[in-house]
Amino acid sequence: MILFNLSLRRGDAAHRPARRRAAALTNVDVSQASLNNGTAIKEGTVRYLVKIWSYLPANLRLLVVKAVQRNNRLYRRLLFRHIDAKDRENASHTLLPPAELRHRVSCSPDAEGFVMIGAACVRDIQSALSKVGRELGSFERILDFGCGCGRTLIQLAKHTPSAQIDGTDIDPDAIAWCRAHLTFARFSVGNATPPTGYQSDMFDFIYAISVFTHLNEDYQFRWLGELRRIARDGAILLLTVDSSKAGEEEFVFENSYEEGLFPAWYQNAFHSRDYVFDKFSSYFNVLGYYPRGMNNHQDVVLLQKSPAS
Ligand SMILES: C[S@@+](CC[C@H](N)C(=O)[O-])C[C@H]1O[C@@H](n2cnc3c(N)ncnc32)[C@H](O)[C@@H]1O
Repeated sequence: MILFNLSLRRGDAAHRPARRRAAALTNVDVSQASLNNGTAIKEGTVRYLVKIWSYLPANLRLLVVKAVQRNNRLYRRLLFRHIDAKDRENASHTLLPPAELRHRVSCSPDAEGFVMIGAACVRDIQSALSKVGRELGSFERILDFGCGCGRTLIQLAKHTPSAQIDGTDIDPDAIAWCRAHLTFARFSVGNATPPTGYQSDMFDFIYAISVFTHLNEDYQFRWLGELRRIARDGAILLLTVDSSKAGEEEFVFENSYEEGLFPAWYQNAFHSRDYVFDKFSSYFNVLGYYPRGMNNHQDVVLLQKSPAS
């Protein structure tokens, strides 16, 4: 957990000049929990609201919920602004996206964590590839599907000096940042559902880190079909899945995010190993499945488009 020098009391921000607002910032932790649970609202207010909640008419409850959400958003935006200013002071990393974009992919705005996870992902991609006798440097056309603000791409580029790298994401802000700062790659803004703008048989390596962990079954199958279309014969695909809650149910889809943070269809998906072998094999050969093979967290699935015979 990271502690930043920050606290915001409700109502303070709008009525003070910027310098005094900054001086009012004192110890609040910025873990995902604090960003999502309404740290900006006083505990006494929360207790009172909970007490009278069942007596409030439905339309008033809705108003309260909306006000809290708006407050959370304001809190987050001010927090990110503060963190960006700190990052600029520290200047410890080149190619560091703004805190808001880091938070969208990591559920945390922490700069050190962003850089460390990106490096760990590249290490784990290399490790998975080596298990099937391949290495990053052997690919010519690489796609980061769901690249976000480049957490992995930034680190991966060092290992693929001769490859043409593409990144795509549905998040236009993330792609705008990537286009402006990651000049070694090309970027496109994608859609929630296929197709992409890429030609058929284009890439010999496609990876998607923590993307299929957010798609419902319908979207997942459509995207497997599209990735198959744009992959060359013999291409390798590396996807990550989360099997931690799949259990007997094989595929579980949970609504987990605060409304408005991501598109409504973007939630949390959990896959069992058996499910992956059973369903993904309609699109690709499953070469390997490595539990917790990505950053000791998500499972790695290695796929291959059947080589042309
Ligand atoms: C948890 S983030 C991971 C981002 C990046 N792969 C990383 O590891 O830093 C998931 C990303 O998938 C992107 N995404 C989800 N559905 C997508 C789609 N249909 N096409 C492109 N990107 C998508 C989201 O916008 C988000 O940036």
